[in-house]
Amino acid sequence: MFVEKTPGQHATTATAQARSTAIHVQGLEKSYGKLEVLRGVDFDVARGSIFALLGSNGSGKTTTVRILATLLKADAGTVSVNSFDVATQPANVRESISLTGQFAAVDEILSGRENLVLVAKLRHLKDSGAIADDLLERFSLTDAAARRVSSYSGGMRRRLDIAMSLIGNSPVIFLDEPTAGLDPEGRIEVWHAVKQLAGHGTTVLLITQYLDEAEQLADRIAILHKGRIIANGTLAELKQLLPPATVEYVEKQPTLEEIFLAIIGGHDKSDATGTNN
Ligand SMILES: Nc1ncnc2c1ncn2[C@@H]1O[C@H](COP(=O)(O)OP(=O)(O)OP(=O)(O)O)[C@@H](O)[C@H]1O
Ligand SMILES: [Mg+2]
Repeated sequence: MFVEKTPGQHATTATAQARSTAIHVQGLEKSYGKLEVLRGVDFDVARGSIFALLGSNGSGKTTTVRILATLLKADAGTVSVNSFDVATQPANVRESISLTGQFAAVDEILSGRENLVLVAKLRHLKDSGAIADDLLERFSLTDAAARRVSSYSGGMRRRLDIAMSLIGNSPVIFLDEPTAGLDPEGRIEVWHAVKQLAGHGTTVLLITQYLDEAEQLADRIAILHKGRIIANGTLAELKQLLPPATVEYVEKQPTLEEIFLAIIGGHDKSDATGTNN
């Protein structure tokens, strides 16, 4: 559950811990006028792990991410990302992160490929075309690569937005509801990409409303409620908060998601990318 620091911890252990911590948040407070949104938020995210932040609408998840991403100033507390303090070293923090916001931030006039090439060039990467093509392939957007984004479906925009945030291999990635509005196949593609990222050592802070998404992806899950983290642990640890499971006979019915995927499974994925219209 909550990680308690052992009193009198050896200094080298503390340094090693700081190095293995990608995100450190302590006593974070933020109000908008009289509305106290964050009232002392504490959590740590280990390097290379996926940490899911859950909470009801308006609980302050996006506010937290905006502070971590240096887009918003905290009222109180300590926040560091990739060992850089967001208040005193914001430029270093920005170099360490990539953010996919809650609402897709793609350029409508450019094509999907042009959007990706643009970001790769802004990040001074060589082979921007090859990087773009690889990401288009990974997110099943190859067939729509040359089309203007204004003609994309919501799911295609979302996938392009996430692909754009992967350019440059930032050590820390913030994903604010990355699969909102995606169909089940699109969600699975995004999940796969997120797992791959963490597998390569990227730290992912994932904000989600979908509990199954947190179950599928997260190494640790925290729940933000009334301005504080009220639970923080692995899925197994969180399950222990409930009374022990009882054994019941339940006839297993397929979920609608399983049915949906089975029915469309035989069809060409290019249909789902909306290229045959
Ligand atoms: N710029 C702002 N000015 C005033 N109030 C704000 C501002 N931004 C957010 N809020 C309020 O702060 C609270 C937290 O908002 P936030 O967007 O962080 O929540 P959230 O957990 O991301 O919600 P959702 O799940 O709907 O995305 C909400 O009550 C919201 O209305
Ligand atoms: Mg939000």
